[in-house]
Amino acid sequence: MPASQDSHPLDDTLRDRHVIVALTGGIACYKSADLVSRLVQAGATVRVLMTDSATRFVAPLTFQSLSNAPVVTNVWDAQSNYGSPHIALARWCELMIIAPASADVIAKIAAGICEDVVCLVGAAIGTTKPILLAPAMNADMWGNPITQQNVATLKDTLGYQFVGPDSGWQACRTTGPGRMSEPEAIFNTAVELLNRKKSS
Ligand SMILES: Cc1cc2nc3c(=O)[nH]c(=O)nc-3n(C[C@H](O)[C@H](O)[C@H](O)COP(=O)(O)O)c2cc1C
Repeated sequence: MPASQDSHPLDDTLRDRHVIVALTGGIACYKSADLVSRLVQAGATVRVLMTDSATRFVAPLTFQSLSNAPVVTNVWDAQSNYGSPHIALARWCELMIIAPASADVIAKIAAGICEDVVCLVGAAIGTTKPILLAPAMNADMWGNPITQQNVATLKDTLGYQFVGPDSGWQACRTTGPGRMSEPEAIFNTAVELLNRKKSS
C-alpha cells in the first residue's frame, strides 16, 4: 500500500482535523475538487458526501481519489463500523462544509427534511458543530424571497455560517450574485472556524 496522503500533508495547519465536504447539484461542483485538495494538503482528514444530483456534475471517483476515502452518496450502502452512518459521521466531524449548496438543499435543511445524505448528516449535526455553506445558484434563484427566507432560517435558527455567494459570471451566461465563492475563500473560512473551535 502506498503511504496515505493524510500522513504527509504539505503543511500542518489542519493536521488531525476532521472535515466533511458535502456537495449538492450545481455546476460549481468542479470547484469543490480544489477545496478538498486544499484541505487534504493542509493535513485535514476529509470525508466527502454527494447528493445524487452532485454525482451528475462530477464523478465521486474524483473525490474518492482526493480524499483517499470512499465517497458517501447513499446512507443505505455507506461503509461504517457503526450502526448508523449519518450519526457516526456527525460525531466524527469537527466541521461540515456544504459546497456547492443548492437552493434545494438550503430549502430542505430549513424545512427539517432529511431525505438525502447531505441534509441527513446536517440534521444529525444539528447545532453541535459548525456548518459552513457556500451557496451557488443562478442570480434569480438566489434573489428568490423563499431562498432568502430559508437562508435567514439557517443563519438565525441554526447558526450556520455562510461564505458568499460572490457576484460575477454565471454558467447560465449572465452576471449577478449567486456564483460560488472561490475554493481559497471557503478554505480560509473553514480554517478560521476550526481555529475558533480549538481555542474555545
Ligand atoms: C445543468 C444544471 C445546472 C444546475 N445548477 C444549479 C446550481 O448552480 N444551483 C442550484 O441551486 N441548482 C442547480 N440546478 C438544479 C439542481 O441540480 C436541482 O434543484 C437538484 O434537485 C438539486 O438537488 P440536490 O440539492 O439534492 O443536490 C442545476 C440543474 C441543472 C440541470
